[in-house]
Amino acid sequence: MTEQGRSISYLRLSVTDRCNLRCIYCMPQEGIRILPQRDILTYDELVEIIATVAGPLGLKGIRITGGEPLVRGGILDLVRRLSAMGVIEDLSLTTNALLLTKMAGPLREAGLRRVNISLDTLRPDRYRRICRGGSLERVMAGIDAAVEAGLAPVKINQVVIPGVNDDEVEQMARLTVDRELHVRFIEFMPIGNSDLQRRRKYISSASLRSKLQESFGLCSADGPRGLGPARYYRIPGAKGNIGFISPLSRHFCSSCNRIRLTADGWIRTCLLSDRVGVDVKTPFRAGERGDVLVDIFREAIRRKPASHDLAPKGNGGNFIRTMCQIGG
Ligand code: 5AD
Ligand code: SF4
Repeated sequence: MTEQGRSISYLRLSVTDRCNLRCIYCMPQEGIRILPQRDILTYDELVEIIATVAGPLGLKGIRITGGEPLVRGGILDLVRRLSAMGVIEDLSLTTNALLLTKMAGPLREAGLRRVNISLDTLRPDRYRRICRGGSLERVMAGIDAAVEAGLAPVKINQVVIPGVNDDEVEQMARLTVDRELHVRFIEFMPIGNSDLQRRRKYISSASLRSKLQESFGLCSADGPRGLGPARYYRIPGAKGNIGFISPLSRHFCSSCNRIRLTADGWIRTCLLSDRVGVDVKTPFRAGERGDVLVDIFREAIRRKPASHDLAPKGNGGNFIRTMCQIGG
């Protein structure tokens, strides 16, 4: 469906708020209070809701997110069922890759097309500091497994935080040279950890790009398959692209084509606006089906804000939910 000139074709589906990491920008050390099981939409509920609304809304892509989606049991079954619906052309998943070595092949067989992998550093000690757990080695093995399984294109996302990992952008960019990996640099958003945001601010994509331009002499490039807001470049001769995602320095709200469904059944039409969510779980559990559900989504989309109100300098980050509770 189209709203304010924006065609809403892409759904981010958060299947859990749990995660096997505690990244400093996303979760407090002790973790978050996780949702009780009964508040989480079951796969049956999810599949029924999506089967009802995907056609009428014109959804073309679904990205499965979390928390960490691969920690939820039965995820292969969900992928299989979403894929079997036939209407979703582009089924993808965002993961920290810790469980990907085992799961990349089965995910591909279940009908997943591609993955985005969160990776903020290539240094083992720093990885442990940023993610508070996990292992860089496992992530790298997970990336290999994704490539091998044919989950293409494989995109790698780095959240660039000044003084934390901004000195590694060249190293990260080099990942694109020998293999068809696409690396995207994301401006650090004031969501999740407002303290870190206040101390560190963010680095604009423009300044990162000129830094990389100096090191490599970038040329512009078409993006890999995807429906997102990144702008793409390429190191001359490289196999993969480099992308910049600039939620702060360059609002892309006017072309935002996405909505989100949280694990506890809220339609969230803007990542960065806490107050425009619409509960679809309660009416669904009260027995509403068919057009009533479609109308709930339509109404939520009609209320999608024209733009977020984040100031590029950060506005304190008064967010009620962190990324793991929304799905990024
Ligand atoms: N700013 C930018 N990106 C973030 N992510 C999580 N928190 C933030 C933040 N504050 C990213 C994760 C992952 C995606 C789902 O969102 O690194 O790649
Ligand atoms: Fe987990 Fe992703 Fe949040 Fe890190 S950013 S704690 S991997 S949900």
